[in-house]
Order: sequence, then C-alpha cells, then structure tokens
Amino acid sequence: MSTDALITVKDLVKSYGQLHALNGVSTEIKKGEVVVIIGPSGSGKSTFLRSLNLLEVPSSGQIIFEGADITDPKVDINKHRQKMGMVFQQFNLFPHLTILKNMTLAPMKLLKKSKAEAEAKAMELLKRVGLEDRANAYPSQLSGGQKQRIAIVRALCMEPDVMLFDEPTSALDPEMVGEVLDVMKALAKSGMTMIIVTHEMGFAKEAATRVIFMDQGKMIEENTPQEFFTNPKTDRCKNFLNSIL
Ligand SMILES: Nc1ncnc2c1ncn2[C@@H]1O[C@H](COP(=O)(O)OP(=O)(O)OP(=O)(O)O)[C@@H](O)[C@H]1O
Ligand SMILES: [Mg+2]
Repeated sequence: MSTDALITVKDLVKSYGQLHALNGVSTEIKKGEVVVIIGPSGSGKSTFLRSLNLLEVPSSGQIIFEGADITDPKVDINKHRQKMGMVFQQFNLFPHLTILKNMTLAPMKLLKKSKAEAEAKAMELLKRVGLEDRANAYPSQLSGGQKQRIAIVRALCMEPDVMLFDEPTSALDPEMVGEVLDVMKALAKSGMTMIIVTHEMGFAKEAATRVIFMDQGKMIEENTPQEFFTNPKTDRCKNFLNSIL
C-alpha cells in the first residue's frame, strides 16, 4: 500500500441473497484524486459509494480510510463518516430549516463549533457558490440547481477529506446541470479528493484524474480520461461508451 492512499479497498463484496452487487472490488484512492465511476445501471456504482462510508455494510472485504479499517466493528464509524461528505441525486436538505440552519446544524452538533463560527464558515461557502443572499431561504424556495449547490457546500461545512457524489446532476433540469458541475470543477481544482458517479462524460474528460468502469459488481477497467475515452480496452467498456456517447 502506498503511503498517500486516502482510501484502500480490498476485495469488497456486498451480497443481497444470491446477488453480488459488489463482487470483489479492490482499488486505491489517493489524496487529491478526482475519480469518476461509470457503468451500466445495476453495475454496483451506488453500492460502492455507499459502502465507502458504511451506509451499506459490506459482506466481506476491507476499507482502510486514513489508516483505519472502518469495516472493523470496533471502529467508531461516525468519527470517520464525518470526514466523508456525500451528495446524492436527491438533495436531502431538511425542508423545515433555512439554508443557513441546514449548513450549521452538523458542525455545531458534531464538530462542537460555536454558532458564530459555524455561521461564518457557512456564509463563506455560500459566497463561494454565489448563494449568500439565500441564507435565510427555505429549500422549497430554491431551484434544483441551487439546492444541489447548497447540498455540496453543506457537506463542505463538515470539512471532509473526501467528497462522494452519486449522480449529483441527474435529477436536475438540463439548464441547471452546468452550474452544479462548475461548483464541482472548482472543488476539484481546489485539491479536494472526489469520487463521483456520473453520466456527464464532458465533466469526466475535463475534471477527472481517473475514470473507472464498473460492470456486474466489478471494476473492469480504469485509466486516465484521455486514454479511457479514446482507447477503451474491453468490449464491455467499448459497448457501454458507444451506447452513451
Ligand atoms: N437494498 C438492496 N436489496 C437488494 N438488492 C439491491 C439493493 N440495493 C442494490 N441492489 C442491487 O444491487 C445491484 C447494484 O445496485 P446499484 O444501485 O449499486 O447499481 P448502480 O450501478 O448504482 O445502478 P444505477 O446506474 O441504476 O444507479 C443491482 O442489481 C440492485 O438491484
Ligand atoms: Mg446508482
């Protein structure tokens, strides 16, 4: 194992009865990498992401995150989970709380930040995504693209070491996809380690440091975006790319 690995996954299996949603996945995510995961529906992409922070409990295998084996039942998973931000297709904002409250709740409760400190950080992040004037709005008063930008900065309020994205733009109207991808590109540029399941191949080409292709619960192929898109190696990957490009 190289020393700059942030996450090392060893032979990860997740079974639902006879079905192996993950069928022996091994990989290493280094600090600062922007990894895009693609693959057909049902190939295990979401299961992989959700396993990384133990939203799904693996059937077997290991996940080493920042040196700790988080699949060890003795580990305090909440402590490690705080260091992994997650953004879903559905924004999962608390509808009854203002944007500012949505963003300060976890840092105050879990990081024990003072209200002033948490609010200062939240406002700084809101400014970064051009939404500081919406701090006192409720989620229902925002567009889908705005809600997803808020979901991203809300995760950033916890000062995570890695950000996991599961199809963050696929529930959005087309005209709002760009503004969310722009926030993600800026985040990638800032050096954040990111693992992203997406169908946005333009984003993958521009922002990814590595693209991984999954099929039937396995990582079949991986490469730099340049190589990956111009020179796919396996037929399965070629067929998939032909079907979406
Ligand atoms: N809770 C569950 N119970 C049973 N089977 C499940 C469960 N969650 C996922 N699966 C199955 O595991 C497989 C992988 O699912 P997963 O959601 O990871 O795929 P995916 O690659 O994210 O697909 P999509 O592109 O459609 O989001 C699928 O066959 C799915 O039906
Ligand atoms: Mg999925």
